[in-house]
Amino acid sequence: MTLTGTIPVPFGWFRVADSADLAPGGLASVRVCERDLVVWRTVDGTASCVDAWCPHLGAHLGVGGRVDGASIVCPFHGWEFGPDGANCRIPSSERINGRARLRTHPVIERNGLVLAWVHPLGDPPTFDVPEFPETADPDYLPFIIRSYVINTSVQELGENGIDRCHFPVVHLADEPPVIAEYDGSGDIAHVRTIVELKTPFGDFPGEIDVHQYGPGISATRFIGFVDTLLIATQTPIERDRCELRFHFTVRRTGTEAEAREIAELYVGHIDEQAREDVPIWEHKAFVPRPALSDVDGPILEYRRWAARFQVAPAG
Ligand code: FES
Ligand SMILES: [Fe+2]
Repeated sequence: MTLTGTIPVPFGWFRVADSADLAPGGLASVRVCERDLVVWRTVDGTASCVDAWCPHLGAHLGVGGRVDGASIVCPFHGWEFGPDGANCRIPSSERINGRARLRTHPVIERNGLVLAWVHPLGDPPTFDVPEFPETADPDYLPFIIRSYVINTSVQELGENGIDRCHFPVVHLADEPPVIAEYDGSGDIAHVRTIVELKTPFGDFPGEIDVHQYGPGISATRFIGFVDTLLIATQTPIERDRCELRFHFTVRRTGTEAEAREIAELYVGHIDEQAREDVPIWEHKAFVPRPALSDVDGPILEYRRWAARFQVAPAG
């Protein structure tokens, strides 16, 4: 049996900033996938993500560095680099250093999030993350956000959602949810779960529909009561430390205040579940060959899917 820290950090699209927090000309330091990264935006609006260390003599670009037009400027000797990572200016020199290059990570902006593709070998993205229609729909409330830093791997967070038998024990559900469909045959996994949605207005037969876009971002829709969208981002910091972040919205029904009340109830429920899981996550071991029962759900199918995003599989 091995501790959770032996599950390798996966590759994938990971949230490195909220779009609104990265203004034109802005820059931020982040720790993602055991790397020190800097995410920055040109004055024209292009977001980039680079390793923090300057290839000249190693200064950290996020500590005193700045953005000037379409370049990021190192705080040590003022070398400038473009969004492609190439050196484009050296102060007091007529020349550039054609071999000096910041290591860049591909960036997309979707649904108000800046996502970076972080791969330990620098391999290119194997899939895309779509715009979710709800995020541009004025009928939906602004996101309610909750964020947690948890001492576990992102793989454990993902496994929790399909580990049906922990729901009655940890979350005091009446019954384990019924997983009607699990499709982990591609980079985008799909899970459909039948549940009894408990609401202040009664219990409704419902479904939870999840699309998981690699290990770093998923879209969950609770179907049967009001229209909802939960974007969960799971960003590895270290092997055994990650940030879990919920972005939750509901379609406006009735008055603004009523819609907000419903949204807060959902968020309260999601928040409570996350907090209930934390003590288990932060102390459990990773069992590579678990002793399973016939009612555990698609744990091994999930692990095979998670292994798609590992250079060296867990074990
Ligand atoms: S270390 Fe960055 S310019 Fe010298
Ligand atoms: Fe849970």
